[in-house]
Amino acid sequence: MVNNRPSQCSRAGRRLGDRHLRGVPSSRRGERSVHRSQAVLQTSSNVVSDIEDHRLRQSAIAGPVFVGFAGSWSQPSKTRTLVEEAASRAVKRFAGSSHVFDIGDLGDTFGVASRPQQSPALDRQLKAFLAADALIVASPVFKGSYTGLFKHFIDLIDPDRLRNKPVLLAATGGGHRHSLVVEHQLRPLFGFFECRTLATGIYAGPEDFADGRLVGAETSERLDRAVEQFADHLAAAATGSAHRIGR
Ligand SMILES: Cc1cc2nc3c(=O)[nH]c(=O)nc-3n(C[C@H](O)[C@H](O)[C@H](O)COP(=O)(O)O)c2cc1C
Repeated sequence: MVNNRPSQCSRAGRRLGDRHLRGVPSSRRGERSVHRSQAVLQTSSNVVSDIEDHRLRQSAIAGPVFVGFAGSWSQPSKTRTLVEEAASRAVKRFAGSSHVFDIGDLGDTFGVASRPQQSPALDRQLKAFLAADALIVASPVFKGSYTGLFKHFIDLIDPDRLRNKPVLLAATGGGHRHSLVVEHQLRPLFGFFECRTLATGIYAGPEDFADGRLVGAETSERLDRAVEQFADHLAAAATGSAHRIGR
C-alpha cells in the first residue's frame, strides 16, 4: 500500500534529524542531520514512517519493521554504519521499513534515567525498539565488552518485552582480540530476554570500514548470511498472526 503523506514524512525526518545536538560543534550539526534524514528511515515504497505512531505505520507500510540500535555515541560511528547497512539490506530483502538510532539519540538525561519516561527521546526510541518485528543490535567493544550505555539502555527493558523477537547481533572493535564478544556477551544477554538471536553474529574490525562505509568483503558476505536468517523467524511470526486471527 502506498502512503501519500508528505507532511508526515517531513515531520518524522525533522524530528529524527533533530536529536541531541548539544555538545556537537555547529559545523557538524547540518552534516549529522543530513546523514540522519537520509539514513534513518528507509522504506521499500517511498513511505516514511513516524516512529511515534506505530499503529498508523503498521497500517501504512506492508512488511516487517526493522529497528537497529548502535551502542555508540561517536560521530561518525562504525557501529552505526554497520547497523544501518544491516537495516538497509534487511529492507531490500524483506521490504517493510527500518529505523536506526544510537546513544546520541536517547537525550541528554539518558545516562541518569532509571525509567524511560524520564527522557522523551529515550521513551520514543525504546517504544520503537519494543514495537519492532526484528532487531539489529550492535555495540563497539569497550574494555572487552559492550559499552556501559548500551547495557544501560537494555537494562531499562522489562524482562518479558523482547520474548521471541528475532535479533541480529553485531559488534565493532579496534582489532580482533575481542571478536567473541558477540558470542560470549551479546548472545547470553539477549538469551536472558528469550530472543531468537540469529545464528550468524557479525564482528567488524577497523579494516572493514572506509569512507564511512562497510567495505570488508568477508564481513559483508557474513552480513548477507545473517540478514537471510531473518526469513524463517519473520515467516513464523506471520504464520503465528494468521493463526491467531483465524481462531
Ligand atoms: C574507551 C574505549 C575502549 C575500547 N576498548 C576496546 C577493546 O577492549 N577491544 C577492542 O577491540 N577495541 C576497543 N576499542 C575500540 C573500539 O571498539 C572501536 O574503535 C570501535 O569500532 C568504535 O566504534 P564506533 O566508531 O561506533 O565508536 C575501545 C575504544 C574506546 C574509546
